[in-house]
Amino acid sequence: MGLAERLSARIRSSGPITFASFMESALFDPEDGYYTTRAAIGFEASDYFTSGELGPAFGRALSRIAIDAHVALGRPATWDLVEAGAGRGGVMRDLLAALERERPDAARGVRPAIVEVSPRFRELQAVALAGRELRWATAPRGLAPIHGLIFANEVLDAFPVHVLVRTQDGVREVYVDADGPVLVETLRPASQSDLRWRVPETLPVGGRWEVGIAAESWVAQIAAALTRGYLLLVDYADDEAGLLARLGEGTLRGFSRHHLIADTLQRPGQMDITATVNVTAIRRAAEGAGLRLVGNATQRDVLLALGVREAAARPSTPLEQLRAASRRSAVDTLLDPNGLGAFRVLLFAKDAPLAGFRAFEGEKR
Ligand SMILES: C[S@@+](CC[C@H](N)C(=O)[O-])C[C@H]1O[C@@H](n2cnc3c(N)ncnc32)[C@H](O)[C@@H]1O
Repeated sequence: MGLAERLSARIRSSGPITFASFMESALFDPEDGYYTTRAAIGFEASDYFTSGELGPAFGRALSRIAIDAHVALGRPATWDLVEAGAGRGGVMRDLLAALERERPDAARGVRPAIVEVSPRFRELQAVALAGRELRWATAPRGLAPIHGLIFANEVLDAFPVHVLVRTQDGVREVYVDADGPVLVETLRPASQSDLRWRVPETLPVGGRWEVGIAAESWVAQIAAALTRGYLLLVDYADDEAGLLARLGEGTLRGFSRHHLIADTLQRPGQMDITATVNVTAIRRAAEGAGLRLVGNATQRDVLLALGVREAAARPSTPLEQLRAASRRSAVDTLLDPNGLGAFRVLLFAKDAPLAGFRAFEGEKR
């Protein structure tokens, strides 16, 4: 029986499930979840691409944040560099290679590790990072105590969200029901009473509001595993005011073969489902768990501050000119103010200095 049939059977026997519970199954069901069985990032036979797929520039820029973190921590002889949700492993590979080139002393004592839930991505990461001594865990506590830098690119957006709707009769939650074989939305009282209070007063009637309790609690788990150091989060994200300005439509969407799919109940397990990250809520969760904000800026500003547009020697052959043009175009895509460049980059510190990061020079906290 496929996932859609199993979910319908479960709903028929025990009643509708929250959208968050549906999304958890669609993405992470141990047999049929999207991330468990078929997640595909990249350009060919894939559903979407991420910054790390555009060549080594992204990992190289992040290596400069890692270098600044190492210096801010007093250049420890050994330190942890942990990627959470590493996809195909290219960012960690490029970051470590750049670290070795730019700061061999810091690279010598680095202990790389990955937090990953998808067995499929673990295999791809092992290939990308073959020959390196690397630890893996499925949850941050599996690597505790962490002393160094933890980073996650486009991971928070994969956590299940509860969806709340303001109706004439008050706040209701989106549940998933089964209409024969078809999964449909239905509204019910909120599954947890505090969810109701998370909906902003100014959300209009008919407006939808997503609450990422799972992402918030994951940030708190990371904070607990980090004894001293930094957490770097990069994602498509907006603050509460920005999310409200979207006319309360909500941000949930599916991706399949680079196409946007509005109906996220279709074909569970066969497409990615994602929501824009609420920066205000993540910051609140991080600070509540003992982290302090170092910087909050767009990917464009951060990468420019880190020198992503490096001057290179003039290419002398037509082949080198072609390669240089392709690198420039990759960097333009990373900086696109209407695309990847608009992503948010958040850096938090735990028991570590807030100053000394080139990425956020001139940023106000
Ligand atoms: C959208 S992909 C991004 C991958 C990679 N960071 C990149 O930029 O290409 C999300 C990644 O997070 C992983 N992931 C999702 N939920 C996770 C969790 N709770 N803990 C660790 N990894 C998770 C997925 O398996 C996948 O590797």
